[in-house]
Amino acid sequence: MAIRQLSLNNFRNLISTTVDLNANLNIITGLNGSGKTSFLEALHIICQGRSFKTHSINHCIQHKKNSFLLFSLFDDYKAGISRNNKTSIIRIDNKTIHKVSLLAKKTPVRIINSSSFDLIIGTPVHKREYIDWCLFHVEHNYQSLWSDHKHSLKQRNALLKTRNNLSELYYWDKKISQLGMSIFNFRKKYIKSLQLVLDQEFPETIQHLNISLVYKPGWNVELSLLENLNSSRNKDIKNGFTQCGIHRDNIDILSYGRHAQTVLSRGEIKKLTIILIISQVYLLQKVNDREIMILIDDIDSELDEGSVKYLLNKLNSKKIQLFITNIESKEYLCQSHEEYKMFHVEHGMIKAVKHK
Ligand SMILES: Nc1ncnc2c1ncn2[C@@H]1O[C@H](COP(=O)(O)OP(=O)(O)O)[C@@H](O)[C@H]1O
Ligand SMILES: [Mg+2]
Repeated sequence: MAIRQLSLNNFRNLISTTVDLNANLNIITGLNGSGKTSFLEALHIICQGRSFKTHSINHCIQHKKNSFLLFSLFDDYKAGISRNNKTSIIRIDNKTIHKVSLLAKKTPVRIINSSSFDLIIGTPVHKREYIDWCLFHVEHNYQSLWSDHKHSLKQRNALLKTRNNLSELYYWDKKISQLGMSIFNFRKKYIKSLQLVLDQEFPETIQHLNISLVYKPGWNVELSLLENLNSSRNKDIKNGFTQCGIHRDNIDILSYGRHAQTVLSRGEIKKLTIILIISQVYLLQKVNDREIMILIDDIDSELDEGSVKYLLNKLNSKKIQLFITNIESKEYLCQSHEEYKMFHVEHGMIKAVKHK
C-alpha cells in the first residue's frame, strides 16, 4: 500500500515535520549528512518495524532526546511507532499490536543501497536471503517450512555437538529431509522463474552481460536428502555440525559462465543488483498482485545517466512506490514517471521543492 504521509519526531537528525508523499515517485536530494538516508530509514521502519542500518532502532533516537515517534497514513491503514530506550510501541489503526510481523506483512519494502551488492559479491548467506525474501511473500507456507527447518537443524546440530542421545538423529534426519526437500523444490522453481523474468524483462542487459543464475544445492542431488544425511552422519558427528542440506545452498550469478563479481565493473554490479531486485518484485506482483515500496539510496553513485534512466523506466509501475535519494537534483531523475514529488533536505530540514 502506498504511504501518503509521514510524520517524524526526534528521528535521527531530521527536524520534526509532516510530509505528504507521492504514490509513485519521490526524489530526495541533499548534501552528504543532510538526512537523506535517515528519511529512507524512517520509511523502512514505519513499514517493517526495523531499520536497514542498525539492529537496534534506539540509534535512531535523536541525540539528547529520549524517544522518537513516526506516524504515517497509508492508502488503507494508519501506522505509528514510538521508541524509547527500552521498548517500542507499534500501533496499526489506533490499536497497539504486539507482533512486528503484523506490521511487516502490510507493505513489503526493498531497500537498495551499497550493502545490496552483497547479492553478487557476498556469501551464500546473501544469495539464500535473496531467494527466500520473495518466497516468504509468494508462498504462504514457506515461512513456516523455513522456521521448522531451522529449528530441526538446530536440534540435530545440538545432538552432534553433545554426542548425547545420538539415536534421536534418525528422527531429525527424517524431518530435515522432508522440510528440506520442500524448500529445495520451491527454490529450484523460483530460480527458474526468476531467470525467465530476467530474460523477458531485461533482455538488453541480460544478453549483453550474458547473465545466468545457477542453483547450487548444498548436497548431492543424485541421492535423496535423507541418503545424504545418512552417509554424512559419521563425519557430522566428528565435526559437530550438519555439513549437507539446504542450509548450504548457493546461487551462482554468472556472466559469460564466470562468477559475475570477478567479471563485471562496479557500475555493472550495481545495475545488475537493481535488476535482480526489480525482477523479484515483478515476480512477486505477478503471483499476488501486491504493491511494493522500493527505496534506492544514492541512485546516481557509480551509475551513468543512461543506466539510471533505464532502471527508473523499469520501475515505473502503478504498483511500485519508489523513493530515491541523490546528492544533486538532476532533470533525468524526474523524467520516467508521469507524477513525482521532489524534496530537498538541508541540515535535517525536509522541504518539498517541486512536483508534477
Ligand atoms: N541519532 C541521531 N541523532 C542526531 N543525528 C544523527 C543521529 N544519527 C545520525 N545522525 C546524523 O544525521 C546526519 C544525517 O545522516 P544521513 O541521513 O546518513 O545523511 P545523508 O544520507 O544525507 O548523507 C549525519 O550527520 C549523522 O551524523
Ligand atoms: Mg546517505
